Amino acid sequence: MSIKIKKSGRIIKAPEHFLTKEDAKSPEVMRRKFLVASASSAAASFAALGLAGATRPAAAGVGEGDPNILNLPAHSTGLGQPVAANPYGMPSQFEKGLQRRESPGLTRVSAASVAFTPLQGTFGIITPSGLHFERHHQGWWDIDPSKHRLMVMGLVKNPKVYTMDDIMRLPSVSRIHFIECGANSAMEWGNVAVPTVQYSHGMVSCSEFTGVPLSVLLEDCGIDMKKAKYILGEGADGSSMTRTIPLDRALDDVIVAYGMNGEMLRPENGYPLRLVVPGIQGVSWVKWLRRIEVGDMKWATKDEAIHYVDLMPDGLHRQYTGIQEAKSVITTPSGGQTLLDKGFYNISGLAWSGRGKIKRVDVSVDGGRNWRTARLETPVLTKAFTRFNIDWVWDGGPAVLQSRAQDDTGYVQPKINQLRAVRGTRSIYHQNAIQSWKVAENGEVSNVQVY
Ligand code: MTE
Repeated sequence: MSIKIKKSGRIIKAPEHFLTKEDAKSPEVMRRKFLVASASSAAASFAALGLAGATRPAAAGVGEGDPNILNLPAHSTGLGQPVAANPYGMPSQFEKGLQRRESPGLTRVSAASVAFTPLQGTFGIITPSGLHFERHHQGWWDIDPSKHRLMVMGLVKNPKVYTMDDIMRLPSVSRIHFIECGANSAMEWGNVAVPTVQYSHGMVSCSEFTGVPLSVLLEDCGIDMKKAKYILGEGADGSSMTRTIPLDRALDDVIVAYGMNGEMLRPENGYPLRLVVPGIQGVSWVKWLRRIEVGDMKWATKDEAIHYVDLMPDGLHRQYTGIQEAKSVITTPSGGQTLLDKGFYNISGLAWSGRGKIKRVDVSVDGGRNWRTARLETPVLTKAFTRFNIDWVWDGGPAVLQSRAQDDTGYVQPKINQLRAVRGTRSIYHQNAIQSWKVAENGEVSNVQVY
């Protein structure tokens, strides 16, 4: 489908904007001036923008008018669909292109793969549940909650097996947190590899999770605080997903969650029970959670001793590097998009930090020579997405857009060459470098790396 939009990126002010403060106080003057403004100023503005006739009032007597206004469509004259025609609501048919997508050729088997969130098309800080990224090691299941059990055992006085009903009767909390796979942006360690923000950064999502604090369950089972140092979470799927979590973190903000964005977890995201480990890479957020063991040593399971380790330039591996450091990305304009005309654009993006809150995001449009501080939209929450916005007037010349996040520990998001200087180029995980999008003179936006 080809879309022709003239002068995109500019904002046409509504007729109300032509009124002064004094005018606004007198309803009569306002009414008269509104009509005049509509017929003259607005028409002149539209004509200047090449939209002559498009929305000019009929009273002006010029042009054919916009058929989208003049010809009443069926939805203005007929009876709409009844309530509950879609008992579970779905997005508009016109939004069907916005989907999670698997990166072609990334893995051999789709059951052990990733479907990326389309960050370029989401607003605010919450990822709609149907667009939340998916990462499975051995496929996903829709588990019958009446048969699902959670066992808590190990260094506890009273080992217990909980049903979902047992868990859902306990005191609960709801918290908004991002979850980022440690491998997000992994393809870009060596060079530019993928065209769009969906594939470069789409292994991160942010949701409101509801569940029982893990500390409540551990207390309920009488955790042996003298001996306990770590807990292990285990999933019920065939991947034997098991991850060690230090006790201080487990008792801090970890949640045994059943809810996501106001409803039960989606099957792809661990229904009916998953661990939420705020700030820590996604692999520790064990899905289909069936067992928690309390111990005094790290378990060194396959997904922490062999996988999810960082290969350093000297050939050694770093293990247990779970924290997702501060990172940000401009989601629009971003790779694969095209600016249709020079003029005003709202640069918008997301920032997050596994250590706390985002304190500041700076944006550059000239590849990092000059920076301006972006507006952080509220709420700014700990270990959650923060939305940032900043105005930009594109002069039609080449530009390189970048965002640089800083969190409340003072940590500043590094450039890719700073990261490579320490970590080399053979790493997979924890790639949080500043992302650069090049805007060409023809308006096309592409992924580039700037050193
Ligand atoms: N838990 C189980 N049981 N099995 C898995 O394959 N994948 C992990 C983690 N928890 C996984 C799991 C990985 S690698 C990530 S990044 C997150 O779940 C992804 O969570 P999501 O699919 O809800 O986005």
